[in-house]
Amino acid sequence: VTVYLVGAGPGDPDLLTVRATRLLARADVVVTDRLVDPRVLRLVAPGALVVDVGKRAGATDPAAAQARISAQLVEHGARGVTVVRLKGGDPFVFGRGAEELDALRSAGIDVEIVPGLTSALALPALAGVPVTERGVASSVVVATGHDVDGAVRAVLAAPRDATVVLLMAVANRGAIAARLLDAGRAPSTPVAVIERGASSQERRIPTTLEQLGDAEIESPAVLIVGPVAARLEAHDQKEVAPSQDRAVATVA
Ligand SMILES: C[S@@+](CC[C@H](N)C(=O)[O-])C[C@H]1O[C@@H](n2cnc3c(N)ncnc32)[C@H](O)[C@@H]1O
Repeated sequence: VTVYLVGAGPGDPDLLTVRATRLLARADVVVTDRLVDPRVLRLVAPGALVVDVGKRAGATDPAAAQARISAQLVEHGARGVTVVRLKGGDPFVFGRGAEELDALRSAGIDVEIVPGLTSALALPALAGVPVTERGVASSVVVATGHDVDGAVRAVLAAPRDATVVLLMAVANRGAIAARLLDAGRAPSTPVAVIERGASSQERRIPTTLEQLGDAEIESPAVLIVGPVAARLEAHDQKEVAPSQDRAVATVA
């Protein structure tokens, strides 16, 4: 295998898989996204090349940008060195992992997929929110809020008692909430927002469908809609690991 499509998890390097950690330590080239936590990049070996191909929000042509990223991966992969393509969360959850996989495979490059903890499920859990709960929420739907119609359709198609987790929904939160209220969803429906989850700047915002449009939220954030959202815990319960003495690599 020459290219590894690796999930970087939601932020905190403690939430990486063992496989991801090992691959970061031995990669020759790491191609990373804007969403990846800088602490994760400290696990890359000194001397390895780290390339940031993060697409900025509002980039003029996202398809062209994606094609350039795939071309870069093919180029590095064809050199036969160990390439880690690092993506926030899980590479196959709204991560365009499939497109990169196809581009690499059609160029004859071996690829291995290393799943990561997706923000959609890990951030609620870290904040005390069970996305399913017996008698409360019997299923969970993960949808993008990038497009209002699509998000509304996904929510309305889900069972009434489903928990809905929306990614990329910050900009459209007011429009989505308004449409769901119009469709008869209760204004008091709990919504939990986790902004910059699993980082030192994490913010947890409890709100409701009615208040969502007015809540101050910055991207990146996950929105959890449904009764389980009422369980959002205000404080991080995580034990802080003792500080690590071992020197970590600087990033090229
Ligand atoms: C392009 S999607 C990629 C999702 C990623 N592949 C995953 O599995 O988490 C980006 C969206 O994921 C969510 N997200 C990812 N990491 C996050 C974090 N640390 N805190 C809050 N939201 C996050 C946000 O909704 C963001 O807009």
